[in-house]
Amino acid sequence: MSTHDETTVPTNGNENGDGELYGVLAEFDTPGELVEAARKVNDAGYTDFDCYSPFPVHGIDPAMGIKRTILPLLVFGGGFTGAIGGLALQWYCNAHAWTWNISGKPTWSIPANIPIAYECAILLSVFATFFGMWILNRLPQVWHPLFRQDKFARVTDDAFLLGIEARDRRFDAEKTRQLLLDAGAISIENVHFDPDPAKKAMPKWIVAFIVASTAFALIPFAIAAKARNSYSAEPHIHIFPDMDFQPKYKSDTAMDLFADGRANRGEIAGTVARGQLSADDVFYRGLEGGDGGEKWTTAFPKFYPDGREFAVNNELMQRGKNRYDIYCTPCHGYDGRGQGMVPERVKAGGGLWQARNLVEAPDKDGKGGVVVQMPNGQLFNTISNGYNTMMGYAAQIPHADRWAIVAYVRALERAQNASLDDVPADKRGSLR
Ligand code: HEC
Repeated sequence: MSTHDETTVPTNGNENGDGELYGVLAEFDTPGELVEAARKVNDAGYTDFDCYSPFPVHGIDPAMGIKRTILPLLVFGGGFTGAIGGLALQWYCNAHAWTWNISGKPTWSIPANIPIAYECAILLSVFATFFGMWILNRLPQVWHPLFRQDKFARVTDDAFLLGIEARDRRFDAEKTRQLLLDAGAISIENVHFDPDPAKKAMPKWIVAFIVASTAFALIPFAIAAKARNSYSAEPHIHIFPDMDFQPKYKSDTAMDLFADGRANRGEIAGTVARGQLSADDVFYRGLEGGDGGEKWTTAFPKFYPDGREFAVNNELMQRGKNRYDIYCTPCHGYDGRGQGMVPERVKAGGGLWQARNLVEAPDKDGKGGVVVQMPNGQLFNTISNGYNTMMGYAAQIPHADRWAIVAYVRALERAQNASLDDVPADKRGSLR
């Protein structure tokens, strides 16, 4: 089949080809000949041509003079825009339009902004990849003049084809044909557009489908827009009920069964639930003195609820230090002077919020030193229920641990305000 007998080359292989000329389609015998032909066509200066083969042919890209795709640049552009846009969004929201002091943290901080900037970079680079690929390949293309050639159907099977388009500057009915023959084409066909002009454009039903699906996709936005601008007394439409509705009563809902109309039956008068007696006023509330004469205890509880004796010893101190370091140091600091990280950051941000100095001694008139002068029970109560802008820690710290913290705070106070009298007489000599 590789003989170039002029007579076997049809001058016009397409009998129906009465539309405008699209170009010529030449067949070659082997992939190697196709590559050679592509090189010749490229060398001759043609640009609007393409090769078609059943499988990827090595070396065809450079032979055709195909340049590296600019897609990576587009992707980089998308990613870069996304990252900058993500940062700008966060700057606008957090540092510009609605600054909000959260524990004194800076409103504009690169490390905190990285996750969102990163996500935006990924999002836009994926969009650039996806849509850039479609646009660069001029897709979607639902119809092509080459589809009219019977020969072209073989391109997924055993045909190695090279098509040159008539719109190429160098295209010339005779010379182009001769070039392909010289390059070793075993047949050459003219390819024409379909005479039906409608077939040049996208089929009507596809256009209709795109219009209809776009309109359909806009419906949710229309519904959302309407919902934002209107009121309805109807309940929400619940598409997936899952287990959202169950035959049960929640506390504080109405119920006809009982005379008071409430589903919540409350606690039964005169009863205490197991384990909730909390009768020991000192241990649970820091109070002593009983009915009427209650005041903050200055001592420690005598017993734990389980009957063990409460002892202020090294074990209690270690526990207190451990809990204090976890729960109190962020604000009151390791030394108790109220200079933990949180107030320090508030200060750095220009705020005024301050944690109390827990170890400050009162002056000689007894002024200041609030916490030092505070009875143990009140200190316990502050940990339990908080004070002004300090929240209570009852939910996090069990009662026994709160007492351990009280003991440790007392030790801190003592340590920070120590005098020579606190040093055992036989050790004073070693002080410098
Ligand atoms: C989130 C920060 C924060 C933490 C954590 C915190 N505090 Fe405070 N604390 C404060 C602030 C702020 C004040 C001062 C409140 C005021 O005067 O408005 C304060 C005040 C106090 C006072 C003085 C109350 C009074 O009546 O004047 C005591 C005692 C105290 N804290 C103990 C503790 C202990 C013990 C812990 C650990 C269990 C703790 N705090 C944890 C912020 C904190």
